[in-house]
Amino acid sequence: MKIEMKNISKAFGTNKVLEGVNFTVQSGEVHTLMGENGAGKSTLMNILTGLYDDDGGEIYVDGKQTQFNGPLDAEQHGISFIHQEMNNFLEMSVVDNMFLNKEIKNKFGIMNESKMHEQARFYLNKLGTKIDVDKPIGTLSVGRQQMIEIAKSLMTDAKIIIMDEPTAALTENEIAQLFEVVRDLKKQGVGFIYISHRMEEIFEIADKVTVMRDGISINEYSTKDVNMKQLVKDMVGREIGDFYPDRDPHFGKVSLEVQHLSEKGVFSDVNFRVHEGEILAFSGLMGAGRTEIMRSIFGIDPHNEGKILIDGKEVHIHSPQEAIKNQIGFLTENRKDEGLILNDSLRDNIALPSIGGFVKHGIIDDKSVNDFTNMLMKRLTVKAQSADVSAGSLSGGNQQKVVLAKWVGSGSRVLILDEPTRGVDVGAKREIYDLMNELTDRHVAIIMISSDLPEVLGMSDKIAVVYEGKITGIVDTKTATQESVMTLATGGSNDGRTN
Ligand SMILES: Nc1ncnc2c1ncn2[C@@H]1O[C@H](COP(=O)(O)OP(=O)(O)OP(=O)(O)O)[C@@H](O)[C@H]1O
Ligand SMILES: [Mg+2]
Repeated sequence: MKIEMKNISKAFGTNKVLEGVNFTVQSGEVHTLMGENGAGKSTLMNILTGLYDDDGGEIYVDGKQTQFNGPLDAEQHGISFIHQEMNNFLEMSVVDNMFLNKEIKNKFGIMNESKMHEQARFYLNKLGTKIDVDKPIGTLSVGRQQMIEIAKSLMTDAKIIIMDEPTAALTENEIAQLFEVVRDLKKQGVGFIYISHRMEEIFEIADKVTVMRDGISINEYSTKDVNMKQLVKDMVGREIGDFYPDRDPHFGKVSLEVQHLSEKGVFSDVNFRVHEGEILAFSGLMGAGRTEIMRSIFGIDPHNEGKILIDGKEVHIHSPQEAIKNQIGFLTENRKDEGLILNDSLRDNIALPSIGGFVKHGIIDDKSVNDFTNMLMKRLTVKAQSADVSAGSLSGGNQQKVVLAKWVGSGSRVLILDEPTRGVDVGAKREIYDLMNELTDRHVAIIMISSDLPEVLGMSDKIAVVYEGKITGIVDTKTATQESVMTLATGGSNDGRTN
């Protein structure tokens, strides 16, 4: 199968999003689509699969001009789209989500539960993922849900698979597993359109790269003929220097301390402290319990033992409201379900947690709210027409920046950032790192959960490694290496023994 998109244009209202984009993919190749947040990658794919109409241009499938009526039509023609933002019914089981609208029924119209279970397990196994398929999907981490999404697309017998940032929520091991499946399917003639902000991945898996900038396709390369520097330059329109800024931390007193925190079956005996001005990274494999520990500190989930101290005084936090009162902020990994109100404006999303600070004589001071919102949007390079547009109309990476803006603006003294740069483009990543440095200069204590090891090593002062709900070590970043962190993250110890 060969798909050619020629001269594709698209505008949302007055916002021209694509202007004459060309893109081609065929069986047996992995073609990566790169570009900054808001460049138009997801929109192009939505046009290909018929979710949006284009305003101009043509799509050819095997030389024949085609237009799909929608994702289902595209799927029936062998094109499967794994979306950047997942749309699961969180209360429904894994297997029910996987077979939604594609239920296997016998000739009397009765659902064949055992067959659906068997198939669900078969495709998840293929991805090396063991998941209880009867569990509500909402109880699983974002990474696991992503694996299920991939299994769903394998199930459709697709000839071309579109993956829009599939690895953003996956750990190293899972990525390796996924790539094995991709290589395997490639041999069988499946073609891939692969959207990712992670450079290393592109050089590992892609045969071709197309770079988009501001709705235009800039260049197409064979991966072997191009280097990282060139791709960044094409994407950003300029060269960017060092990826990680220097950190010059000055620690103050202990800001947050956690003693013997335990929740049965989830995590146990967690002890750590983070100082004013410090960035403490939490590293570990997916499912190790990092997010769960933070959710408990923030009062979303309970813990049955242990203490949380702020400025040396014990606090009892039973809800996010109480956490916020104690000046703790939490950028969740799941921005769509927890971080943003998609129908609300960017202004409301950003200013809401800080609104108390804008009330003068009982009235909200609109001008200050506007200035504040605009300042943060500019700082984080949020690509949007104005602060009035809804959060849901932004590209995935720009939504992430809005959630971050909200917490940065709230004046938290302890900021928990769960995968802060996930899905964010190279230029904006650097902005976020600079901002983290600025926050710690202002004595904010930052806890950063990250599955990106280079980021952990590049941006933290200390690294707490979590394995199976326990902290297996807290190491000084200066002396840490990828290997030493990985060893701890997989249950080994760094003195030559494994346990
Ligand atoms: N439904 C929509 N309504 C209005 N504007 C939209 C809509 N969908 C996308 N846009 C706009 O189109 C532009 C391109 O968005 P798109 O989601 O294609 O970017 P992207 O390249 O996928 O970015 P990211 O890397 O952040 O996912 C953005 O400016 C976005 O705000
Ligand atoms: Mg996108």
